Amino acid sequence: MTIPLHHLNINDPDFIASPYATLTPLRDDMPIFHDPIWDKVFFTRYADIAALLKDKRLGRTMLHRYTREEIGWPPPDPREAPFRRYQDNVFMDMEADAHTRIRSLVTKVFTPRRVESLRGVLESTTHKLIDAVEANGKCDFVHDIAEPLPVIMIADLLGIPEDQRDNLRPWSNAIVKMYELGYTYRQREEANRAATEFMEMIGAIAAERRARPSDDLITELVQVENQGDKLTEDELRATCIFLLNAGHEATVNGSSLGLRALFQNPEQFAMMKQAVEENNTSLLKTGIDEFLRYETPLPMFERYVLEDMDFNGITLKRGMEVALMYISGNHDPRRFERADQLDLTRTDNPLLTFGLGTHYCLGAPLARLELQSLFSVLFKRLPNIRANGEAQFAKGFVIRGLTHLPVVF
Ligand code: HEM
Repeated sequence: MTIPLHHLNINDPDFIASPYATLTPLRDDMPIFHDPIWDKVFFTRYADIAALLKDKRLGRTMLHRYTREEIGWPPPDPREAPFRRYQDNVFMDMEADAHTRIRSLVTKVFTPRRVESLRGVLESTTHKLIDAVEANGKCDFVHDIAEPLPVIMIADLLGIPEDQRDNLRPWSNAIVKMYELGYTYRQREEANRAATEFMEMIGAIAAERRARPSDDLITELVQVENQGDKLTEDELRATCIFLLNAGHEATVNGSSLGLRALFQNPEQFAMMKQAVEENNTSLLKTGIDEFLRYETPLPMFERYVLEDMDFNGITLKRGMEVALMYISGNHDPRRFERADQLDLTRTDNPLLTFGLGTHYCLGAPLARLELQSLFSVLFKRLPNIRANGEAQFAKGFVIRGLTHLPVVF
């Protein structure tokens, strides 16, 4: 079967704000298509995406199987060397043994116990952020609450000193622009600069922790060993930066898109409010997962086809890139009942939001804890919170979120 051609303008602001009206007919009538502009094969159905995520014939890189010459990849672009020094050491972009090696070192120290130990700080930090705006009767939820909270939490967890945190968000923002399709020359330069400065800062903190260990994740990552194997200096720096970036970018977007979804669904808003009043933790848990399904903050991830393969009657050629639309899978009525409705009580909810398979999000327990804690404190403190004007979407689809969500309370 030949793959139909279709162009999806994922960077169109209307699509970013409201992709569902476009995705639904595609999922029904053309669930797999080749986009000649992006040169990627897009998949929009839940079952296809889930199957491909578990399929070893695809990977986030090809370099564990082939040399660049073998697959016709040009040499790395020297103009992005500083960014690559970071990115090439990020274990999410590794496969097979290289990926397992670093992921298991990180898992040894980034444990459920460490995450759980943050619960108290998480609540007190949320209270402080609300204290700072409460008297005004209004705020920008993104700027004043959603953004600072995960940044503070992940910086605390890693052990970034308070006076060195100002650049975390701008650096991270500059770096993640490189993941959008079609970044500009200026964005590349900014990402290079951010990666260099960020790597230097982490290197300096790590040196300090080697000399004077502390109770934080950087110290543990400096020390962690697996049968004599340790992280190299660049792996250590890149892992910390990646945890910092991954640890907040999507969480900010998850909470602000979640609150906006509640504003748009008053019955669900009332249900959340009541759940918090009654301390109904099970509804809080299903509710947060439902936000994350309903508005997927990281809507699309890609994989390379590692060898020629047949997939449900279509041929995928070695070297092709596939774009897996998690956001569309999360709204697939073939898998989710009333897929386009927000239902905080949903229990059968195998959301694709955190991925599946070997790259399943390592921070999912932390993200869930952060959102549960945030919404519980928010609705306790500001039960009358409501929208105060239009939410604004950030540019970019791959990391999809709001820049502003004005609220009154
Ligand atoms: C709502 C918040 C979050 C969302 C939606 C999210 C989503 C994801 C997704 C979809 C992946 C897999 C990517 C793929 O399929 O190619 C992933 C991987 C990852 N995430 Fe998250 N994430 C969130 C929060 C976090 C947090 C808080 C952390 C850590 C502090 C984190 C750390 C990671 C790491 C380390 C990986 C790489 C795993 C690997 O390749 O083995 N994430 N995340």
